[in-house]
Amino acid sequence: MPDFVKGLPRPRARSGPGPPAGARAGHTTDAAAGEVPRCWPGARREAGRGQGADRGDIEESRHAMPIGIIGAGAVGQALAGRFLAAGEQVVISNSRGPASLRALAARTGSALRPATVGEAADQEIVVLAVPWRRLGEVVAAADVTDWQERIVVDPTNPLGPPDFRAADLGGRVSSEIVAGLVPGARLVKAFNTLPPDVLGADPLTPAGRRVIFLSGDHARANERVARLARRVGWAATDLGRLADGGRLQEFPGGPLAALKLVMEP
Ligand SMILES: NC(=O)c1ccc[n+]([C@@H]2O[C@H](COP(=O)([O-])OP(=O)(O)OC[C@H]3O[C@@H](n4cnc5c(N)ncnc54)[C@H](OP(=O)(O)O)[C@@H]3O)[C@@H](O)[C@H]2O)c1
Repeated sequence: MPDFVKGLPRPRARSGPGPPAGARAGHTTDAAAGEVPRCWPGARREAGRGQGADRGDIEESRHAMPIGIIGAGAVGQALAGRFLAAGEQVVISNSRGPASLRALAARTGSALRPATVGEAADQEIVVLAVPWRRLGEVVAAADVTDWQERIVVDPTNPLGPPDFRAADLGGRVSSEIVAGLVPGARLVKAFNTLPPDVLGADPLTPAGRRVIFLSGDHARANERVARLARRVGWAATDLGRLADGGRLQEFPGGPLAALKLVMEP
């Protein structure tokens, strides 16, 4: 259970060799059949969203805006806990609706707000912490007409229960496929290489700061997510474009995906 669920203690993370726990068990609990998710563009208009904003400047000026997290499972809660610990506001959703997240919110305080998928998707930074095979229905539930102005953070890995067999990506990086589901969004692949217990633990370890990898085709979006990660305490390492960096951090198969690294001071 992520530490923040128990009231935001900040345990020390252990560093060391060995594959991530998520390499097998616990990657997802989704047993749905199906392969690459589809996108159903929704009809909901983005009420209240600023028109004509400079997409390159959705940066610290909107820092006060909550971070939207779709998926409140192991990864969603781990990330929410670290964001909350860093002073961020979080809007979080799952498949069962906000009422099912009330107990979680009661434990974490008012900085975490249970919401619908659509509300979580209405933030400038939207994390898709859901099983790979659910992505299509999640995007449909988000009901977003225009993903522009959003940074979509993709921590998904293209596999899941019951067999944990990797999806056939046709030679593409998984996040390139996810980017196709949210046209116009600036997609940043991040947080997919660490198991939830490590992700949810204090990134400031005795040996140094926990390293997280990110990649994406929009340098300023990468930097925006990197700054957020640095505020949390992670040593954010930008690997460049999805075709290159995304492949390095791809799980399974990427050479960086099984590493739990800390950056020495
Ligand atoms: N676990 C790991 O070791 C690990 C590590 C790194 C990356 N990842 C990746 O991170 C992603 C999430 O993994 P996880 O372990 O957090 O999975 P999880 O514990 O099974 O949680 C999945 C979450 O997604 C939500 N969800 C499913 N379908 C949805 C829908 N249609 N609309 C809204 N929410 C929906 C679920 O809602 P309910 O709670 O209502 O069911 C649940 O909160 C996966 O893509 C996985 O590959 C996992």
